[in-house]
Amino acid sequence: MARVLDLLWLMVVVFPVALAAEPSPLQDFCVADLKGQVLVNGVACKNPSLVQADDFYFGGIRKKGNTSNPVGSKVSLVTVEQLPGLNTLGIAMARVDYQPWGLNPPHFHPRATELFTVLEGTIEAGFVTSNPENRFITKVLQKGDVFVFPMRLVHFQRNIGNTSARAVSTLSSQNPGIVTIANAVFGSKPDISTHILAKAFQTSNDVIDNIQLKF
Ligand SMILES: *[C@@H]1O[C@H](CO)[C@@H](O)[C@H](O)[C@H]1NC(C)=O
Ligand SMILES: *[C@@H]1O[C@H](CO)[C@@H](O)[C@H](O)[C@H]1NC(C)=O
Repeated sequence: MARVLDLLWLMVVVFPVALAAEPSPLQDFCVADLKGQVLVNGVACKNPSLVQADDFYFGGIRKKGNTSNPVGSKVSLVTVEQLPGLNTLGIAMARVDYQPWGLNPPHFHPRATELFTVLEGTIEAGFVTSNPENRFITKVLQKGDVFVFPMRLVHFQRNIGNTSARAVSTLSSQNPGIVTIANAVFGSKPDISTHILAKAFQTSNDVIDNIQLKF
């Protein structure tokens, strides 16, 4: 018993635990009324008695996303914007398509943990931790495998097969947000000064100018 109490004391005093999540909804649902005037957590709720089945439905990810782009992947999001019935429910999802060797480049979600499931192909996934600082965690995933990208950590996936690959992700926010590192750093509007980036990346102004042109 004394040992159990010691352990509890250790947990509470030495390792304080902080938990945070999106608030529990105060109603069954709050289908987003995207034209509403009174805002609740970003958007208004539709009158529940006027809600239709289609408010809880989105058919937009039946089709493969267009992966003809420089990175060879396409993320098709299903957030509250595509699916108004998600409003206030704290969850969203995405379909990700990859060309052979296509990359979903390093990015993070400021408001969500991501649970990633491979539906087709072989995918290398990785993320970098903040504590310990900059530890790289990576794994090769096969069809059916599941991997978690913890909230706010930089992560990526790459198709390491000669055939197309496909995955689905669930995200713990109705509006997870996405910050793609290369776009944020080299494609901001207006540009971050070349001198700042050259110093940060320990390279020349020419190299930075060259990269900025691509974004
Ligand atoms: C896919 O995207 C590329 C590049 O933007 C475009 O040229 C092409 O027409 C698109 N294909 C389809 C089927 O929409
Ligand atoms: C993928 O394609 C490359 C180049 O065509 C080939 O060398 C390699 O063996 C292929 N790998 C598999 C697993 O089919």
